[in-house]
Amino acid sequence: MNGNIMLIGFMGAGKTTVSKELSKITGRNELDMDAYIVEKEGMSISDMFEKYGEEYFRAKETQSLIEIMEKNDLIVSCGGGVVVKDENVEHMKNGGVIVLLTATPETILERVKNSTDRPILNGNMNIEFITNLMNKRKERYLSVADVIVATDNKSVSEICDEIMDKISKK
Ligand code: S3P
Repeated sequence: MNGNIMLIGFMGAGKTTVSKELSKITGRNELDMDAYIVEKEGMSISDMFEKYGEEYFRAKETQSLIEIMEKNDLIVSCGGGVVVKDENVEHMKNGGVIVLLTATPETILERVKNSTDRPILNGNMNIEFITNLMNKRKERYLSVADVIVATDNKSVSEICDEIMDKISKK
């Protein structure tokens, strides 16, 4: 398969963890978009939101995505909000296969509740907020994805097997 394998989905869907494991299985290098932005900007995502606002972060996210899509054969763990912008989706569609990881709001909350590095969830760490934001983004995630894998109650290795199996049948 040519191009990158891009993991998308809501915060806490397991993109970072799964991409690290997929990298081991496939021998492809792994690139975490959020980490790439943090390194480039020399600032945490929370600080970017706090000092310059979300729009600033979204502009950096698009810029980074364009750079990353010039690379090939990577496993890319994308930020949860990257698919919201049409422009970003166009870049991604040309960059390889897009894999959506899903999880219920309950699973998401369980996975993210002790973390403070997602500014969108700070002060919003509850099922209602997660459900509302997920519902707003759901159609977009589904329409962008080439492959969809539910992650609830599955091990990382089960999720990776399912991803590779579904990609091979594409
Ligand atoms: C965001 C998701 C985060 C990060 C930023 C915004 C979002 O990435 O890009 O905090 O809008 O869903 P993860 O999905 O890797 O947590």
